[in-house]
Amino acid sequence: MRGLILAGIAALLGLSQPSQAKAFNDPAENGGRWLTRANSDDEVGEPLNIVISGDSDPLVMQVDDSTPGGFYTYWDSLHFQQEFAGIHLGGDQLANVGDGLVAQQGILRYNYNDRNGGTLYESRNGGNHIRYWNQSSTNALFIAASAEMDKEANHMIIPNGYNLGRDWIAGNATAKAINNATADLTQKGQTVGYWTRNGDAATNVSFTYETELSFKSNLTTYNSSMVNHNEQVSVNGNPPQDGLVALLKVSIKSGNNQVNADSWAVAHGVSYVFATLSVILSAIYLVY
Ligand SMILES: *[C@@H]1O[C@H](CO)[C@@H](O)[C@H](O)[C@H]1NC(C)=O
Ligand SMILES: *[C@@H]1O[C@H](CO)[C@@H](O)[C@H](O)[C@H]1NC(C)=O
Ligand SMILES: *[C@@H]1O[C@H](CO)[C@@H](O)[C@H](O)[C@H]1NC(C)=O
Ligand SMILES: *[C@@H]1O[C@H](CO)[C@@H](O)[C@H](O)[C@H]1NC(C)=O
Ligand SMILES: *[C@@H]1O[C@H](CO)[C@@H](O)[C@H](O)[C@H]1NC(C)=O
Ligand SMILES: *[C@@H]1O[C@H](CO)[C@@H](O)[C@H](O)[C@H]1NC(C)=O
Repeated sequence: MRGLILAGIAALLGLSQPSQAKAFNDPAENGGRWLTRANSDDEVGEPLNIVISGDSDPLVMQVDDSTPGGFYTYWDSLHFQQEFAGIHLGGDQLANVGDGLVAQQGILRYNYNDRNGGTLYESRNGGNHIRYWNQSSTNALFIAASAEMDKEANHMIIPNGYNLGRDWIAGNATAKAINNATADLTQKGQTVGYWTRNGDAATNVSFTYETELSFKSNLTTYNSSMVNHNEQVSVNGNPPQDGLVALLKVSIKSGNNQVNADSWAVAHGVSYVFATLSVILSAIYLVY
């Protein structure tokens, strides 16, 4: 229903919508590969090991801070956010997911459950982070996840860090930890994310997401020697990554729920000050 309404609105606004929602198109069929490029001078890169499926709720594909319930709200529900105070550390990577070689849209870091500075802690002490690219033919989002070491270790990827980074995210998204994913593993679960306009608590709304997780195999055909830091990441003589791509199909179970009882005014388009004033006036009326 929501999809229909959104599609209807998009049609009214003349926005282009893929005629039929599709999970994703294989980048390799369009000159791309399932590997980023660490930088423009380097052939090596990091596995694109997560895809947010193009047939997810279209709201989740909106990579835009000002969209309640969009991409960033979903990632808030997974404890990931943009870098603290806009401090950008580390270089941008490139990838071709079928639209030509382009720079990452952005980077998000695990916030250790602390929205105020948790990502700064990640930048210094290491942890999980993602880089992401959209695919124009399907709206799917291609993600390179990896768990890294601290700043002193120059943000080297930890042993097994590509698989671990992917599985921690897939585990958080479905509320069930994953130990060494296999191609036939599927699970689903719910998460809750919050959105505010510029941190204003009065605008705080929550969204409940349901993520259906499955894995795709046999897509990553590149040679292990192309994987950045492959020798340090590889464990027990295994390849640096297991070749599985986590596919996340995200739906919205409930959205736009006001977090604070007294922020009803936001939903009604009334200014907070005016609402407070009217409550005071009502109270005076009741007293007299
Ligand atoms: C994909 O990303 C590019 C560049 O960031 C942007 O111009 C474009 O609008 C995005 N497409 C979608 C469908 O979000
Ligand atoms: C959630 O992510 C954190 C950090 O990336 C990880 O330590 C934890 O095991 C994950 N939880 C689940 C249920 O996968
Ligand atoms: C998962 O795989 C890693 C790397 O091969 C291995 O070290 C670890 O023991 C495995 N864990 C489990 C629970 O099988
Ligand atoms: C929004 O509400 C949630 C849940 O109460 C809270 O954890 C979060 O800090 C709030 N965000 C802001 C910016 O107030
Ligand atoms: C992946 O490739 C292996 C070996 O080439 C094959 O045995 C397996 O059936 C393939 N799996 C899928 C899901 O296509
Ligand atoms: C992978 O690349 C290395 C180094 O270029 C080469 O020695 C090896 O034969 C390649 N393996 C495959 C399966 O192509």
